[in-house]
Amino acid sequence: PTIRREDYRPPAFLVDQVDLHLALHPTATRVKAKLALRRNPAAAPAADLELDGEALTLLAARLDGAPLGADRLAHLPGGGLRVADVPAAFTLETEVGISPEANSELSGLYLSGGNYFTQCEAEGFRRITYFPDRPDVMARYTTTLEADRAACPVLLSNGNPDGAGELPDGRHWARWVDPHPKPSYLFAVVAGDLVAMRDRFTTRSGRKVALGIYVRKGDEDACGHAMDSLKRSMAWDEDTYGLEYDLDVFNIAAVSDFNMGAMENKGLNVFNTKYILARPETATDADYEGIETVVAHEYFHNWTGNRVTCRDWFQLSLKEGLTVFRDQHFSADQGSAAVKRIGDVRRLRAAQFPEDAGPMAHPVRPDSYVEINNFYTATVYQKGAEVVRMMRRLIGEANFRKGMDLYIARHDNQAVTIEDFVRAMQDASGTDLSRFARWYAQAGTPALRVRDAFDKASGRYTLTLAQSTPPTPGQPEKQPVPIPVAMGLIGPDGAELPGAGLLLLEEAEQGFTFEGLPAKPVPSLLRGYSAPVKLSGLSLEQLGFLAAHDTDPFVRWDSAQQYATAEMLRLVEEVRSQKPLALPEGLAAIFGAALDRAMEDPAFAAEALVLPSEDFVADQMAVADPEAIHAMRQFLRGALGTRFSPRLAALHGALEETGPYRIDGASIGRRALRNASLAYLARAEGAAGAEGLARAEQQFEAGRNMTDVLAALRVLADSDSPARQAALDAFHGKWRHDDLVLDKWFAIQASAARPDALEAVRALARHPDFDLRNPNRARSLIGAFAAGNPARFHDASGDGYRFLAEMVIALDAVNTQVAARLVSPLGLWKRQDAARGALMRAGLERILARPGLSKGTYEKVSKSLAA
Ligand code: ARG
Ligand code: ZN
Repeated sequence: PTIRREDYRPPAFLVDQVDLHLALHPTATRVKAKLALRRNPAAAPAADLELDGEALTLLAARLDGAPLGADRLAHLPGGGLRVADVPAAFTLETEVGISPEANSELSGLYLSGGNYFTQCEAEGFRRITYFPDRPDVMARYTTTLEADRAACPVLLSNGNPDGAGELPDGRHWARWVDPHPKPSYLFAVVAGDLVAMRDRFTTRSGRKVALGIYVRKGDEDACGHAMDSLKRSMAWDEDTYGLEYDLDVFNIAAVSDFNMGAMENKGLNVFNTKYILARPETATDADYEGIETVVAHEYFHNWTGNRVTCRDWFQLSLKEGLTVFRDQHFSADQGSAAVKRIGDVRRLRAAQFPEDAGPMAHPVRPDSYVEINNFYTATVYQKGAEVVRMMRRLIGEANFRKGMDLYIARHDNQAVTIEDFVRAMQDASGTDLSRFARWYAQAGTPALRVRDAFDKASGRYTLTLAQSTPPTPGQPEKQPVPIPVAMGLIGPDGAELPGAGLLLLEEAEQGFTFEGLPAKPVPSLLRGYSAPVKLSGLSLEQLGFLAAHDTDPFVRWDSAQQYATAEMLRLVEEVRSQKPLALPEGLAAIFGAALDRAMEDPAFAAEALVLPSEDFVADQMAVADPEAIHAMRQFLRGALGTRFSPRLAALHGALEETGPYRIDGASIGRRALRNASLAYLARAEGAAGAEGLARAEQQFEAGRNMTDVLAALRVLADSDSPARQAALDAFHGKWRHDDLVLDKWFAIQASAARPDALEAVRALARHPDFDLRNPNRARSLIGAFAAGNPARFHDASGDGYRFLAEMVIALDAVNTQVAARLVSPLGLWKRQDAARGALMRAGLERILARPGLSKGTYEKVSKSLAA
């Protein structure tokens, strides 16, 4: 059953008040719900009330206090409930039974390590009680929890605490009142044997907020970075948008079984432990950065998502795109904005571009879906953030802030649409954004081509920009979109010339002229990556020039990447025609220049040294060749390591850390540069390579933080070093009791591109520490292999595809959301040659043939086959 955006109808009934009572029990939790309902004056009149429900056992129902008999109640297909013939306003009481223990889907109320957690977005609340489970029904909630005191000393829900007490038989209760109306997807309960790290925050208008991060005993010491990130986020939202927190408590609970990263439930965020827990010995720099970003993201949702929410799930990017934009901006403000931007663009290209070019391509605001959980995508999140960023660039920072103020003033406590957001920006800025809104409606990544011409006699320089967007499933024809191109002109001597600014390409093709130039400049385009498009048309020579001279760090980095990509594509062809490979001198020069300047900005240098990934190179080819791409990239890494081994060794030595572990941007940058140097050195030929591996062994043993230890282990795991297996065994022995570290151990082996990788992965799937039911663990093995080891996943035998198909089938019976997510790599069969494509399709067919397949996995697989 496909749900279509155009079919939206307002809800027939509204809920003003929800009183919930949950008596928690692992297999027999009882949920009593008392709903104050009334007919929606804005909807077509309906005699019957229909409520969503799933996996609920109805125990009792009363309407205005009178028991409802079977004559008034009907169970709907899918699990919902119909109450016949209801008055205009009434109270409905239901009591249902649910089994948290049986809930392996991790949606609704479930158990993790003996503790209770909920996940209600998008449609999990219906697995807790009967309810109009849609975001445009906003109600006030009072929640009373009751549980065994010994098993569940902690009882948490949304809002502010409102009493607690003892009950007979060792049980106790606690009540929570949330004064803010909210949609059901923001409901949350956490109960169990948890301990809190506590702190306080005073808002600028003087509200004292009690902060708590709840974790399992023994993890209290690992919450400091999350707490610090939370307080900085709260201050940043006040400073940047004037938005203050609006309850007396803000709680976070961390859980090790979680389908996604985290969830912004009102006043009670629930997090994957991966985005809370960090100690220098167990968390990498990337983990620390992830925590900061996700804590900020969920906190920022309090206004962009919770106070102003989505009318329906097609509007998901209204809250997600905007909130990703806000968390990116926050993180950029915490350290180096350029390095942060490079990382964000890298992720966009790695995850969103393939989605836009694949069978699941959809607009930022989708038009239809079968399973909404399949649309929590890089397009809705990351491309959605890019669209907000472009809008801000078009109307300017000050107008954007005015637009945010207007958006919130107009729509506080409402469930609204993306059009409402765009309208606020338009009204606040006086800029017509109607054409710009096409970005929300059109799928596919626009290609931007540039040509230029210079007339020496008149000094006139002309830039011609042309755009086109390739067709995507269901959208054969595309219109031009307004593309903001932030640019500058660089003179032959490397100096910036007048003429820098913002060009707006609104048509399929437009020319822009610049007068009075002394010589032909090189155009620096898409500064700061001002639009999520694929730029082409610059020559190798121009790219090399920009990599050396541009004043914009993003363009400097990106030009070097584009240069490397062009050379890598050429080398792939040489591998295919079995020519001997030589290190391209231009590329070596760019690499050498990056090394020369490395200590000026180590974080930037670390980004500059990384070659475009195998997948990125594959994306640029009409037909990928994973073997040739892998051989080419390995060759280049080795050749660069060999050529520059003295300087790489010197950097690795000079950047050794002696002081305490610090997580500021500069320290993270130095570690990144040091470990990038080590990775190249270890691939060098001869004595230099042996020296690199010896250093990796030494760093693995003596490393004082997980960043360095893991970087060394990755080098060893990717090598034929005799120390390889011993290092992996030692790491497992040391960390087998720490789930998050063990995930890294699985992932490192799954993504090591050794010829025996698939055998290793199959063996790891039978390892006693492997657990398909834990999403982090499933992703760390299956996801790391299928999405992070292209050379082995695409083994010509098709064994990699078979493995993924088997795993998806097994997972679909346990957790359909995780299964549907992990199937994605099989969908990109069009990129591969005919033989691989057929094997990939065979994997998809095998999944599709599975009786009882979930609708989520069905949607992904069937769309992948149809494309
Ligand atoms: N709203 C959450 C976030 O962006 C994501 C939760 C999505 N969960 C899901 N099961 N689809 O922070
Ligand atoms: Zn979000």
